[in-house]
Amino acid sequence: MTKMTQDVFQHPKTVMSGMRPTGKLHLGHYVGVLKNWVQLQNDYPCYFMIADWHALTTKATQTDALRDDIHEIVLDWLAAGIDPAKATIYVQSAIPEIAELHLLLSMITPNKWVETDPTLKDMVQMMSEELNYGLLGYPVLQTADILMMQGNLVPVGKDQLAHLEISRDIARRFNHITQTHTFDEPRPLLTHTPLLMGLDGRKMGKSYGNGILISDTEETTWKQLKGAVTDRARTTRDIPGQVSQCEVVYPYHQVFSSQAVIDKTAEECHTAARGCMDCKKILLESILSEMAPIMARRQALANDLSLVHRILKDGNESARERATQTITTVRRAMKLYQS
Ligand code: TRP
Repeated sequence: MTKMTQDVFQHPKTVMSGMRPTGKLHLGHYVGVLKNWVQLQNDYPCYFMIADWHALTTKATQTDALRDDIHEIVLDWLAAGIDPAKATIYVQSAIPEIAELHLLLSMITPNKWVETDPTLKDMVQMMSEELNYGLLGYPVLQTADILMMQGNLVPVGKDQLAHLEISRDIARRFNHITQTHTFDEPRPLLTHTPLLMGLDGRKMGKSYGNGILISDTEETTWKQLKGAVTDRARTTRDIPGQVSQCEVVYPYHQVFSSQAVIDKTAEECHTAARGCMDCKKILLESILSEMAPIMARRQALANDLSLVHRILKDGNESARERATQTITTVRRAMKLYQS
């Protein structure tokens, strides 16, 4: 098909993305993902999904916290500015049609496609147990998430590109086998945000407890930031530093501070005119000028979970409506038995 004839068949642009509910979100999630979602919801219909089944692929035996984790992630999203009046916020497991689509797509997915997925390989390696069938299906389930909402724009980080390539292959194969144009091949929307390190210089991760959380307060933010790593060679205040060697504080300035503050930081670090502790205080101001209203909103929202329940009830309902349409189209395209 030529590019032009292909465009004729394209579905309207729809954004779909998701996150696994694995605990409270940190600043890395905020600058890397949520800020982008907040922009996208103004320009496209958006479906933002809490991927609780995906969470089970690596911890099916630890479900005690799942319910709370779902609430926490919704609170973080809302505080960051995801607006249920603009975007549909819903829970994967509330849409059983996704499981059906996952099953159907699994029938047209060669094992080789999933077995060679590098992101999946990484996940398997990190697990202590042996690879289970559900985890192998991770990218297929993710494909069902996307295609169920007729998503064709998928904002994700680099680590998800391999999964998305499989989604494109599956969509293409489905269309080919059924001789329909049921699905667009979903395209990634890569977010070009610098990776925020954890405050200790390691990867920012929930299990490390080394990130500032959206659910932190101004006080706890400072408590965390105080211990952040700088230029390790600058062991005393009067040794000039090098911002290129500063592991956390300077890179954070680059994300949160104005250009004037960034420039001044480099200058005063190199001349030892500013100490690291003062530098962290200045960084605190920069972070809080963006995050304080969000953190405050997060605290306020957490007082009334009935709002979260209402938002999810509405979101689940409207996502389910769309799912019903898609699954009907899919069953028809595959000429399946329909009662
Ligand atoms: N695998 C994604 C992650 O870990 C989460 C996810 C689940 C997702 N379903 C999705 C992302 C659908 C995009 C689209 O970040």
